Amino acid sequence: MLTSEAILPDKPNDKRETTLSASIGRIHKTETVEGTVILRGEYANAAFMFINDQTLRMKLFFGETPDLRSTPAIVDDAAKSTIADVEEKEGHVVISSPALHAVVNPEKFSLRLFDTEGRLLLEEKEIAWDEKTKIRFAAAKTNESRIYGLGEKTGFLDKNGERYEMWNSDVYEPHVQDTDALYQSIPFMIHYEHGKPAYGLLLDNPGRTVFDMRTHEDRYTVSINSGELDLYFLGGPSIKDVVKRLTDVTGKTYMPPMWAIGYQQSRYSYMNQEEVLDIARTFRKKGIPCDVLYLDIHYMDEYRVFTWDSKRFPKPMEMMAELKELGFELVPIVDPGVKQDPKYPVYAEGVKNGYFCRKLEGDIFIGKVWPGLSAFPDFTDDAAAEWWGDQHRFYIKQGINGIWNDMNEPSVFNESKTMDLDVVHGNNGNPKTHEEWHNLYGFLMSKATFEGMKRGLSGERPFVLTRAGYAGIQRYATVWTGDNRSFWEHMALSIPMVLNLGMSGIAFAGPDVGGFSHHSSGELVARWTQMGAFFPFFRNHTMIDSRRQEPWTFGDQVEEICREYIGLRYRLMPYLYSLFYEAHKTGLPILRSMIMEYPDDRDAYNICDQFLFGSGILVAPIYRPGVQSRSVYLPEGIWYDYRTGERFEGGRSVLAAAPLDTMPLYVKAGAVIPEQALRQSTGEGSEQPARIRFYVGAGTTDVSPFAQYEDDGRTYAFEHGKYRLREWSSRESQEDGIRIACDYLHDGLDETQTAILIIGPITAKPVELISSGGVEVDTWIYDEENKLLQVNATIKHSFEIRIRL
Ligand code: NOJ
Repeated sequence: MLTSEAILPDKPNDKRETTLSASIGRIHKTETVEGTVILRGEYANAAFMFINDQTLRMKLFFGETPDLRSTPAIVDDAAKSTIADVEEKEGHVVISSPALHAVVNPEKFSLRLFDTEGRLLLEEKEIAWDEKTKIRFAAAKTNESRIYGLGEKTGFLDKNGERYEMWNSDVYEPHVQDTDALYQSIPFMIHYEHGKPAYGLLLDNPGRTVFDMRTHEDRYTVSINSGELDLYFLGGPSIKDVVKRLTDVTGKTYMPPMWAIGYQQSRYSYMNQEEVLDIARTFRKKGIPCDVLYLDIHYMDEYRVFTWDSKRFPKPMEMMAELKELGFELVPIVDPGVKQDPKYPVYAEGVKNGYFCRKLEGDIFIGKVWPGLSAFPDFTDDAAAEWWGDQHRFYIKQGINGIWNDMNEPSVFNESKTMDLDVVHGNNGNPKTHEEWHNLYGFLMSKATFEGMKRGLSGERPFVLTRAGYAGIQRYATVWTGDNRSFWEHMALSIPMVLNLGMSGIAFAGPDVGGFSHHSSGELVARWTQMGAFFPFFRNHTMIDSRRQEPWTFGDQVEEICREYIGLRYRLMPYLYSLFYEAHKTGLPILRSMIMEYPDDRDAYNICDQFLFGSGILVAPIYRPGVQSRSVYLPEGIWYDYRTGERFEGGRSVLAAAPLDTMPLYVKAGAVIPEQALRQSTGEGSEQPARIRFYVGAGTTDVSPFAQYEDDGRTYAFEHGKYRLREWSSRESQEDGIRIACDYLHDGLDETQTAILIIGPITAKPVELISSGGVEVDTWIYDEENKLLQVNATIKHSFEIRIRL
């Protein structure tokens, strides 16, 4: 806790902007070397490469030749440059792709970026430095600029007016508006101004960097403290396009096993094997769906990773067998700190083979964490990373398919809270100091873990959860947002945080539901579980000595609410799983901000107390105690109350009733939502037919189809074609009535399916159903009261059903 001494009048303020002296100066030479355009200036040079038509990389360098190697955040494909066109026009150097033009004024280097329609995207205001490492880039913004992305940050959705540092930090508390750096650093932002094309800016520098949208009204600045200024400008024109392009460069979300998107229960810690089994049995006894239980640090022998505490967990194999029988996966925690103990084989082997991080002088860096003094693997070296990955066979042998990476900022219990900055990471012969690559430590740990698990699992998909990360972490791990608290404010805060993570390429993320530290209440757990059911990552986790937080802790009503909403997630699993596939293919997030889906809506730019789940379902959580109703903003279009079917015209706010057992949910007319019968875990089979719900009533509006994705949910067979991808859609017109259609884009499962198609609202009983293509309509009935048409069908391949009214 700080006192007023913190604001002593003459205290130095390291957040004040410094004056930088040098700049690129006049450009005296332009040359093109293997697709890279190099502008040589008086005091520094700039290298430009088009990664693809919409992505321009610019690297500042001081020597003769630029080092164009990227950090591991950038996928290999993005290292290839596409050919840029260079010409001199009206005294300017113009570097173009078919989609973007970078216009440089050579007199006093200045850069502007235009799209092909001549619209100005970015206007550079300054590139300056003093010691060649403290470099600042500035570009224009206005008060109307909206800034999104920036990864895991506190505050509201729009970041204009904020300033953030990127330095992965273990922040146990507080997570409040002015908490600067948290566990993840994603140095990426989207700039959007109403009516203008959006663009993205990625700074690939894993040292300490700052994004400042506060100090100046007319510009934002991006500063680095070490390493190089390596920027990627990403074209739009929409926010969605920018996110897709970002993930073309930093990679798409890994395709998780389906169980990893089920409900998950954790506690620091479930203390022994009996307690774990007791929790598992209670879920099944009470009929609350759940897929995953966690083991926090107490499962280990004095916190030595890759061991069991034999008193607490005397028979892990037996425990695992029962868990599997009950339909649970178990995910143990693995921290990077390896106990300094010569008798511990992991430590001894790591020392012998030189796998641990070392100081410049050669000593292994030793820091204190849970096991006491510990060494830390140097994941920048392939050999060390592979060794670490292979250690996970210890868990795989017991039937474990998922790993939880914690403390990987890395957190160290010392004054700097992390590894010494002069540690030198080997990086396969291209050494980097910890100061330069700090923010990559967690990323590389999860990469090593994911790849090791994948090698060991022979064909099964692993799941990795991480606390720390850097741009591109979505390729290897799911992100949870660290040690939040059981505060209503933290529930509300998790919405913009996860929305911005999604706009930074990290689709698979979520907070500790119910809150980690402090003590939860029944009402908070009920409300947070309702909301969490729609977050990509859905885990209830809490702190040692805190009030227990399992769904049954707070009495019958809260238990019933949790059962219902967790159950709803399982019923919506076909929809959710398809959204995961979309994220895996395109990079689009699952949880979407209103502005992402409705960029033309001026009122949507900072809405972050409601969100879209995919594009079809609008979720409006209750995030204050005692609240029984709330205002919900419905964007343009027709919306239906998910529960009652009540119809609303959008473009306005409505007051939604929200007693404790209800969280307002709306579905957009035109949406198609594939559902399934309730089950207790994702692996549980069901004889029930599939259920496809068509929300008609959008009139002649052109609505996008919904792409439903199905595969075995566990293996990589989908990469060899074993999956089914179908587009569901409905169209309405005066002449033809309603047409529903299913288009098979890929049919690698080759199965006939019985399905119930539910179509509505339809005001009167249809006259006739005319089907064509691969469907047999077995029966159909019209439910007059709910205005729904139910078609029982056998589906073989693409088809259309015309409903004559
Ligand atoms: C810190 C993590 O953030 C928390 O989730 C975990 O329970 C503790 N470490 C103990 O492992």
